[in-house]
Amino acid sequence: MAIRQIRKMGDDILSKKCRPVTEMTDRINVLIDDMLETMYDAQGVGLAAPQVGILKRIVVIDVSTEEEQMEPLIMINPVITESSGENLGQEGCLSVPGKVADVTRPTYVKAIYKDRNMKDCEVEGHDLLARCICHELDHLDGHLYVEKAEGPIRDLEAEE
Ligand code: NI
Repeated sequence: MAIRQIRKMGDDILSKKCRPVTEMTDRINVLIDDMLETMYDAQGVGLAAPQVGILKRIVVIDVSTEEEQMEPLIMINPVITESSGENLGQEGCLSVPGKVADVTRPTYVKAIYKDRNMKDCEVEGHDLLARCICHELDHLDGHLYVEKAEGPIRDLEAEE
């Protein structure tokens, strides 16, 4: 596994639409391991393939807390099939370091995706997980949360 360089806002690749994965390959397996390692190293809760410069529809998510551990979600070709509720909450992104802003997201989403064995899966997410799924899937269509921010983009330090 290896830590990959995280692309920052302003890099053209972050505004491009990603292509679906058609088959699992050794390269994609390595990419997924590297994405997990890169996300944990950067202390993020999610990472999308374009953030490491790969235009494929793959995201990794881990919203575990000390109280509640979960297996990391590895989502290939994810699609949100249901959503409900609305919550205005703070969001950040590893491609926009040191910044946060408020974004309205659903409080519940259901998504379908393929796992790393290309098996069809489904996940339901509430609150932080719902927010995270929406944020990461936006990356696959070339969108950053700052486009949806309500109010100013703030410095993270100012919050503490
Ligand atoms: Ni992001």
